[in-house]
Amino acid sequence: MAQEQWAAVDEYVSGLLAPHDDALDGALKASDEAGLPAIQVSPPQGKLLQLLAQTLGARTILEFGTLGGYSTIWLGRALPADGHLITLEADLEYAEVARENIARAGLGDIVELRVGPALETLQQIDTEGAGPFDLTFIDADKVNTPNYFAWALEHSRPGSLIISDNVVRDGTLADATSDDPKVRAQRHFHEMLAAEPRASATTIQTVGSKGYDGFTIALVIS
Ligand code: SAH
Ligand code: DHB
Ligand code: MG
Repeated sequence: MAQEQWAAVDEYVSGLLAPHDDALDGALKASDEAGLPAIQVSPPQGKLLQLLAQTLGARTILEFGTLGGYSTIWLGRALPADGHLITLEADLEYAEVARENIARAGLGDIVELRVGPALETLQQIDTEGAGPFDLTFIDADKVNTPNYFAWALEHSRPGSLIISDNVVRDGTLADATSDDPKVRAQRHFHEMLAAEPRASATTIQTVGSKGYDGFTIALVIS
């Protein structure tokens, strides 16, 4: 019952406040047809990412985990025409689907998709002197969230936001005895944040069409 109700509310909210258009629908359809897992952000979550990027007046965005480019489209639409979004995806087939979805959304010029394990592509980006990023969205392999956060922090400016998806995972975040590497990584991430004077953060639990999860928002202070 709870899950049905959460999904119904997401549908109600999205219908009014995060409505779909041809580019978003087309991205979901092409992703589904190509067999990508349907684990993209929900429409209200996509809209939240967009609102946060707009609030910041973001011009540069970094995303870990492109999948079919659905969250990329929400975020890319917050950027001005001369903005830049770098999105990192390990899976070449997913990246090909994403590239078409992003182009269909008219964002081909401002989105740069880098294929490969993010820890490797980050090294290239580093040598090219990319950043600082106004907003970073961490949504790739969950064991590396702490590593991606550490990198993002070094490539941010005071006032940047670093947002991490899937930190709560059915409440497992509170399980100190878990030996699941993903859970341990999310707990390590929270301990890092607690000890990090350069950022101020909180985690918000969420329910919705994707079940029970949550995200962390960290504001870079210095
Ligand atoms: N942000 C997307 C969903 C991303 S799902 C959206 O909301 O629309 C997580 C993605 O991370 C998957 O596409 C997966 O292939 C990718 N991924 C997994 N490990 C990775 C790695 N080491 N580097 C980059 N991407 C990775
Ligand atoms: C998974 C990944 C995600 O980014 C997400 O939001 C939900 C699920 C997964 O890998 O299962
Ligand atoms: Mg996610």
